[in-house]
Amino acid sequence: MGQVSPAARGLEPDILARRGLLLVVGATAVTGVLAGLSRAGVVAAWGPRYGAAHGPLFVLGVFGTLIALERAVALGRTWAFLAPVAGASGSVATLAGLAFGPWALALSAVALGAVNIAIVLRQPAAFTFIMLAGSMVLCVGSLTWAMGRPLPDVVLAWMSFFALTIAAERLELSRLAPTPRWASRAVVGISVIVALAAAAARSLEDPWSRLFGAALAALAAWQLSFDLARRTVRGVGLPRYTAAGVLGGAAWMLASGATLAFTTVPPGGASYDLVLHAVFVGYVLSMVFAHAPIILPAVARIEIPFTRALYAPLLLLHLSLLARVTGDLAGHPTLRRVGSIGNVLALATFVAVVVGVKVAKRR
Ligand code: HEM
Repeated sequence: MGQVSPAARGLEPDILARRGLLLVVGATAVTGVLAGLSRAGVVAAWGPRYGAAHGPLFVLGVFGTLIALERAVALGRTWAFLAPVAGASGSVATLAGLAFGPWALALSAVALGAVNIAIVLRQPAAFTFIMLAGSMVLCVGSLTWAMGRPLPDVVLAWMSFFALTIAAERLELSRLAPTPRWASRAVVGISVIVALAAAAARSLEDPWSRLFGAALAALAAWQLSFDLARRTVRGVGLPRYTAAGVLGGAAWMLASGATLAFTTVPPGGASYDLVLHAVFVGYVLSMVFAHAPIILPAVARIEIPFTRALYAPLLLLHLSLLARVTGDLAGHPTLRRVGSIGNVLALATFVAVVVGVKVAKRR
C-alpha cells in the first residue's frame, strides 16, 4: 500500500513542527501542574522535584511559548519561530535540570519582543502597541530573573505581560463593537501605566505595585465595560461561551488588581497565592479555555468543534478558584488545597472534553 505523505494529508512540515512544539508545551504543562500541586502541599508523582520551577515553567515554558507561537504565525516570517523554539528548548532544559534553562526562556521573551516590534512596524495600531508594551516588560522581568533576581520581584512583570497581551487581542476584536472615543484612548493610557508600573516595581511591597494594582483593576473594568463579549454573551453557541470566559476572567483580574492596590502583599503565602492565581488561573486559564476553539485551528490546524460540554471545565475552573481564594482569605489551608486540586481537575476536564469531541467527530 502506498504511503500518504504528510503534505497529501494537508500536514506540511511547518504544521508538524508547530504540533511538535505544542507537544513540548503539553509535557511542560503536566510537570507545571504537578509542581503547582506540590507547592499547595499535594505530593503527586515527580511534582516536588520541580516545585521551585512551577512559576517559570507555566509562565514562560507553557504560555510564553504558546503566545510566541501564535505571534510567529501572525507575522509569518521564519525567524519569528526562534521565540517559541527558544521557549520550548528552555522548558526541556529546565525539566532536565540544565543551567541554561532560564537563559533560553529569557531569549524566547527577547525574540517575542522582536516579533512584536516587526508587527508594530507592519501594522501600527493601538492593539499592536499594547502587545509590544507587554512583551517589553516580559523581557525586562525574564532577563533580570535569569540574572538571579528573586521570582516574587519579577512576578508583576509576568502578570502584566498576560494582562496586556490578552487585553490587546480583545481590543482588536472589540473594534467590531462601537466604543466611545474616550474609552479607546483610556485603554491605551491604562496599558501604559500597567507596563511602566510593572517595570518600575522592585518588589511586591514597593509603592509602584499599588499603582500597578490600580491600573490592572482599571484594565479589567475596561474589559467588563467595553469588550465585545458584553454583546456576544447574549448570543448563542461558541461566541456566547467565549464571552462567558472573557467576562469571568476579567472579573478575576479586577479582584487581583484591587487586592494589590489596597494591601501590601508579601512574597509568599495566602495573599500572594490569591493575587497571582486570580490572574494566572482566573484570567489566563479562563481566556485559554475561551479562545482555544478559535486559536488552535489557526496555529496548528487542530479544529475543536463547539459543544456545550465545554462549559463544564469553565465552570469548574471558576468555582474551584473561588474555593481556593476563599481558603486564602479565611486562612483555611484545606479549602485552599481543595480549590487548587479543583483548578487542576478543570484543566484535565478541558483536555478530556476537547479529546472527546474530536474522537466523537471522527467516528
Ligand atoms: C493549575 C493549578 C495551579 C496550582 C495548583 C498552582 C499552585 C501554586 C502554589 C501553591 C504556589 C505557591 C504560592 C505561595 O507561595 O503561597 C504557586 C506559585 C506560583 N504560580 Fe501557580 N498554580 C497553578 C497554576 C498556575 C498557572 C497557570 C500559572 C501561570 C500561568 C502559575 C504561576 C505561578 C507563579 C509565577 C508562582 C510564583 C512562584 C514562586 O514564587 O516561586 N500557577 N502556584
